[in-house]
Formats: sequence, structure tokens, C-alpha cells
Amino acid sequence: MHTIPQGRFIVLDGPEGSGKSTQLRLLVDAIQKQNVPFLSVRDPGSTRIGERIRAILLDPDHAELSMRCEMLLYMAARAQMMSQMILPALNEGKLVLCDRFVSSTLAYQSGGEGLTDDQIRAVADVAIQHRRPDLVLLLDIAPERSFQRLQRAKDRIEQRPLSYHAQVRENYLKQARQDPDHHRVIPADRDIETVHKEILAAIGPIGS
Ligand code: TMP
Repeated sequence: MHTIPQGRFIVLDGPEGSGKSTQLRLLVDAIQKQNVPFLSVRDPGSTRIGERIRAILLDPDHAELSMRCEMLLYMAARAQMMSQMILPALNEGKLVLCDRFVSSTLAYQSGGEGLTDDQIRAVADVAIQHRRPDLVLLLDIAPERSFQRLQRAKDRIEQRPLSYHAQVRENYLKQARQDPDHHRVIPADRDIETVHKEILAAIGPIGS
């Protein structure tokens, strides 16, 4: 039977100040050196529509945005990125590296206005057409430490209290406990090179 090559889908996630952007850059460099065809995207964003939705979501002026609307907007941006970019790349056999994904919604929006994980997962299946990541790397750090590391002005989500961000961390760790085969928790409060090596080890041979 003729089989279509399917790319590998890897997500890097974690709270603000966890060093996610730095680690993504290092990972992209490592992948480029292997000459493996890949796509690197950020969620929310990467598409024209998604970047506009991102601007609505992160604008500190949008104080009245309800948690349900917020969740659906993240999913809407993701749906666009999924059909316009991620699924075509996976179908071409590319490695897809995504900065945040459904794991972020389960961490940041679950519990808000009574939203449950099951409700979020149901909407996610519509948005991502049931194509879940093969591996979610979770950079883990206490919010007290990560906010010390954050240099720039805080966006609408970052402005929420420390107790909210402590719950976000717990929600990430819960996902890893519930589905250890598809998640890897990487302690992030260590030097950049150590974290990078652990990420590479978790991914295994690139391109296979
Ligand atoms: P970023 O700056 O790491 O790209 O993330 C944008 C912000 O959006 C960050 O504060 C986390 C938040 N976020 C959610 O609340 N839910 C989501 O589903 C995603 C993808 C991000």
C-alpha cells in the first residue's frame, strides 16, 4: 500500500521567562545543521490571521475579554495555523516545531469561568483536526523565578497574579502526569546549554 510520509510534530511549551525563546533558537540552529526539512511556527500567530488574533489576545487594553472568548480566540488562531501551515508541512514529511500549542490552553485557560480540560480538548479537536503533537517538551520553572527573568513589559496574560501563574505551572505538570508518553518535563532553571542538551536528548535523532 502506498503510504504518505508523515512528519514529526514537536511542541516546545512553558511559562514566560522559562527561556523558551532562547531554547527554540538553539533547537532551530541544531535542526538546520542536520539539513532536515522543517517548519518552525509560534502559537498564537505565524499566519496573517493568527497574528491579528494574537494582537487582540495580548493587548493589555482588552480587560473585558472573557475566558471563553479568550480560549476560542487561541483555538481560532491555532485552527488557521493548523490548516494553512502545520498539516501541509506534516503531509510533506517535514519536522514541525511549534512554540506553544493546545498544552498552553490547557495550562492557561482551564478552570477560568468553569472551563474544563474536557471542554478545551473537545474544541481543540475541531481546531487541530485530531492531529496531536508527537512530543510536547515542557520547560518547568517556578513563577517566582521566571518573572525575575522576564526583561520586557508584561502582556495582558503576564499581568495576572502570581497565584494564577502557579496554577498554570500545576496545569502543565498535570498534563505530563496524565500522558507521560507524549510529554517530557525539562527543569528550566538551569544554564542554557544544559537545558538545550536535555531537549536534544528528549527529541532523539532529528529527522528519523
Ligand atoms: P508567547 O509570548 O510565549 O508567544 O505567549 C503568548 C501568551 O499567550 C503567553 O502569555 C501565554 C498565552 N497563551 C495562553 O494563555 N493560551 C494559549 O493557548 C497560548 C498558545 C498562549
